[in-house]
Amino acid sequence: MTRQVLILGGTGEARRLADALADRPEFEVVSSLAGRVRDPALPSGAVRVGGFGGSEGLAAYLLEHRVAAVVDATHPFAAVMTASAVTATGRLGVPLLVLRRPGWTPVDGDDWHWVPTLEDAARELSRFGERVFLTTGRTGLATFAGLDRHWFLLRSIDPPAPPVPRRMTVLLDRGPFTVRGERALLVEHRIDVLVTKDSGGEMTSAKLQAAREEGVPVLIQARPATPPVDTESTVAGALRWLSNLP
Ligand SMILES: NC(=O)c1ccc[n+]([C@@H]2O[C@H](COP(=O)([O-])OP(=O)(O)OC[C@H]3O[C@@H](n4cnc5c(N)ncnc54)[C@H](OP(=O)(O)O)[C@@H]3O)[C@@H](O)[C@H]2O)c1
Repeated sequence: MTRQVLILGGTGEARRLADALADRPEFEVVSSLAGRVRDPALPSGAVRVGGFGGSEGLAAYLLEHRVAAVVDATHPFAAVMTASAVTATGRLGVPLLVLRRPGWTPVDGDDWHWVPTLEDAARELSRFGERVFLTTGRTGLATFAGLDRHWFLLRSIDPPAPPVPRRMTVLLDRGPFTVRGERALLVEHRIDVLVTKDSGGEMTSAKLQAAREEGVPVLIQARPATPPVDTESTVAGALRWLSNLP
C-alpha cells in the first residue's frame, strides 16, 4: 500500500527527508514550500508552493489528497505553520511528526544574550554598540527600521522590502558559511554585535564561532516552544517514525 506523506518544508532537513524517501515505493511524497524565496533549493519528488489558507485550508488539502501522515520539517521559527499543522492534523486524526534540529548551546568564551523576541533585541541593541550584523532574515527587519543611531549589515537570501533601517548595507547570500568568511565580515565591517535567532544546525553556525573568536557579543532570539506532539531531531529519526506508522 502506498501512503501519501506531506512534508512541510523550507529547510535542509525537509530536503534530505524527501531525498531519502524518493526511492521508497511505499511512500508517495509531496514537499510543500511557502514560496518566500525566489529561487529555492528544491527537494527530490513532487513539490507544491504557497500557503494552504490556514488550518482549514490545510485540513481540506489533507482530505483531498488522502494524506496519511504529515512531517512538519519547517524552520524552528515557522511557528504559524506548525500551529496550523497541529490543528489540522489533530482535527482529522492524521499522524503528525515535528522534525526539529536541536538549538545551539553556548560554549566557553561565548557572550550570548538571550531575548524572547526581535523587539527585545532591538531594545537592547544600544547596550552593545552601533554596528550590527543582522542575520535574522528579511521578515523581521521592520522591527529595526526606526533605529537611526545604528548601522546594520543585513544578510538575507532575497532583497528586503521596506520598511528597512535607514543606515544599512545588504549582503545577499545563503549558507553554508565558513568561520573564516564570517570572521572577515565581522572585522571588515567593525561589527559591535551580532543579532541572530536560535536556528540550530551546521549551515549557519560559523558566525557564532567567528563571534566568539572576535569577542563580539551575540543577541540571540530564543525558539518558540515545540508543540506537544511526536518530535524527532534528525532525518533518520523521521524515517524511523514513518516506518513505524500503524
Ligand atoms: N522563519 C524563519 O526564520 C525561516 C528560516 C528559514 C526558512 N524558513 C522557511 O520559510 C517558510 C516560511 O517561514 P515563516 O517563518 O514565514 O512561516 P510562518 O510564519 O510559520 O508561516 C506563515 C504562513 O506561511 C505559509 N507557510 C509557511 N510554511 C509553509 C510551507 N512549508 N508550505 C506552505 N505554506 C507555508 C502558511 O500559510 P497558510 O496559513 O496560508 O497555510 C503559514 O501560515 C517555511 O517553509 C520555513 O520552513 C523560515
